[in-house]
Amino acid sequence: MSRPFHWGIIGPGKIAHKFAQDIVKLEGATVHAVASRAKERANAFAERYNISHAFGSYEGILSCPDLDAIYIATPHNSHYEHTLRCIDAGIPVLCEKPFAMNSHQAREMVERAQSRQVFLMEALWTRFLPTTLKTLELIESGAIGEVVSLKADFGFQATFEPEGRLFNPDLGGGALLDIGIYPVFLALLILGKPSQVNALAKKGATGVDVDTGMLLQYDDGRIAHLHASLLARTKTEAFIYGEHGTIHLHTRWHEPTSMSIISPDGRPTNYHFEWPNNGYGFEAQEVMKCIRQELTESPLWPLAKTLELMNLLDTIRAEIGLSYPADM
Ligand SMILES: NC(=O)c1ccc[n+]([C@@H]2O[C@H](COP(=O)([O-])OP(=O)(O)OC[C@H]3O[C@@H](n4cnc5c(N)ncnc54)[C@H](OP(=O)(O)O)[C@@H]3O)[C@@H](O)[C@H]2O)c1
Repeated sequence: MSRPFHWGIIGPGKIAHKFAQDIVKLEGATVHAVASRAKERANAFAERYNISHAFGSYEGILSCPDLDAIYIATPHNSHYEHTLRCIDAGIPVLCEKPFAMNSHQAREMVERAQSRQVFLMEALWTRFLPTTLKTLELIESGAIGEVVSLKADFGFQATFEPEGRLFNPDLGGGALLDIGIYPVFLALLILGKPSQVNALAKKGATGVDVDTGMLLQYDDGRIAHLHASLLARTKTEAFIYGEHGTIHLHTRWHEPTSMSIISPDGRPTNYHFEWPNNGYGFEAQEVMKCIRQELTESPLWPLAKTLELMNLLDTIRAEIGLSYPADM
């Protein structure tokens, strides 16, 4: 491909701005089109990032010529519908997390992409950050010995807006799907599929979970201790405990620029990473690389992992008694 990679964006909200800022800084990539439910919002976004095509409907972008991939950045409840539409139009997709509202939707999205041979990836950006790559490299090299347990949290004090996407059940609100997904992802990445899942949650005024504690146990007895909260700012750190030391991902661990290995006697060895963007450039580069290699999924975050993560989120939801209109 001699011209730059052409991205399209559906849903020009908070995260779409961060993503577009990163694409602007990426070599060999450009945001080519944006779609909003309102033409004036699409125009404003297009003007800000110098985007050639602005659409006042999500359908419009599907017939935009020369699109190489679409990034879906709408609230959780609509990821399923938009992904299916893009795939049916033959357009590769990077879909925000959580990938879908439940595994039923996720399976259909994956099956559709596979049957049409169209690239699809969940935008689990943390997977592609240098700190995550370093963590996996350290574990693989035996730097902390066998992993014995894991602890991760993610909490911030969210302003209560019953209609907003964080609290509105119709939009998939709640701590688990928005931020709890990160600790659950880390446990899945490091320890794999658990054999037992226990969870408790406090529900807020709109019925969604606002503070959720999770314990995942594995066949060999190892345990992951996970916490997500919309009620309070928690440390938002992750610790991977090993036989010969601990990997500490510094706050906020899902997007850290620093991490340490702590020896059994408490001495840290620190690692620092600098990157010239918001951190979303890494997932975008992965998509571009895969598509240029004519792959239909990422070897780093394959669709099977996305389905395992979604299954795990479903199991936790069953434990805490959390259902959504999309489950009916
Ligand atoms: N990877 C990350 O770090 C990260 C961070 C934040 C969020 N996210 C994910 O990205 C998605 C969007 O989050 P966000 O914080 O960017 O959301 P947001 O700003 O509230 O909404 C994104 C956009 O979606 C469109 N939209 C479509 N249907 C909507 C509806 N019923 N209500 C509200 N907006 C609607 C709106 O654009 P138009 O109306 O103009 O079309 C809106 O600007 C979520 O699934 C979230 O989990 C990921």
